[in-house]
Amino acid sequence: MDWKKHFLSLSHFSEDEILGLLKRARELKRGIPGTGPARPLEGRSVGLIFEKPSTRTRISFEVGIHQLGGQPIFLSRDDIQIARGEPIRDTARVLSRYLHGIVIRTFGHVVLEEFAKWSSIPIINGLSDLLHPCQVLGDLMTLQEVGVDVAAMHAAWVGDGNNMANSWINAAEVLGFRLSLACPEGYLPAVQAKSKSITICRDPREAVKGANVVSTDVWASMGQEDEAAERAAAFADYQVNSALLEHAAKDAYVLHCLPAHRNEEITDEVMESERSLIWEEAENRLHVQKAVLEMLCA
Ligand code: CP
Ligand code: NVA
Repeated sequence: MDWKKHFLSLSHFSEDEILGLLKRARELKRGIPGTGPARPLEGRSVGLIFEKPSTRTRISFEVGIHQLGGQPIFLSRDDIQIARGEPIRDTARVLSRYLHGIVIRTFGHVVLEEFAKWSSIPIINGLSDLLHPCQVLGDLMTLQEVGVDVAAMHAAWVGDGNNMANSWINAAEVLGFRLSLACPEGYLPAVQAKSKSITICRDPREAVKGANVVSTDVWASMGQEDEAAERAAAFADYQVNSALLEHAAKDAYVLHCLPAHRNEEITDEVMESERSLIWEEAENRLHVQKAVLEMLCA
């Protein structure tokens, strides 16, 4: 399988390839003339199959495809025959005859891998239970914009070892930055860190110590709503608040992929503070995804 024909995981790409995507995303954001065709998706259609809700991913992909000259086709699970049991291997082969790429948001990561196996067109991960690579790519761009060297930074993750944490681990493996995660017992990331510069502890203060950026996410991800009460108890000491940020580097930045549960995993005060880059972070989804679409679907 040539994983580079798809965008399922940051781990499938080299440091140069990730830095190249980020550079292109910054160019696209600034609208630099002469840096590539303005409408590379002219005459092309990209499907979006979503099995979970979305504000940022859906809209930024639809708008980005439109801005690149292509046609986005949104397909909720119930709109297509997958909902009635049509196999992925059949759906993927049929859609490959109409479309030039498919963005998929789903539960099991194997769904994305199965689509990639049977498609002759690129499959882009719009979030699975395992990974959220488009979001972490946008996070890296956001940090670059404020002058952070993403290959040399110290990043901290506080909270659930979820899809976002896993993609942060992949990013740290590829780019080589220091990543310290604090996750409660029983909620550790599924992705095994190989590099010595990636550490996992229980204490949020230890993880954020000296960090240039602190990231967090909801305690119960989509599909885990039934576990919300149990998780709220397990994560009670994992809130990103101003007291915790006292332990980070002076002027450390704060990221949250959104949607946030304000005053649960992050305080209102921190979200609205000058440290918070969350609105740029949300915008940058558009620019990094355009770079990915241009690389794979043009
Ligand atoms: N951050 C993110 O992926 O948001 P949505 O769930 O709104 O797409
Ligand atoms: N971890 C969250 C991310 C949402 C963008 C979820 O999977 O629901």
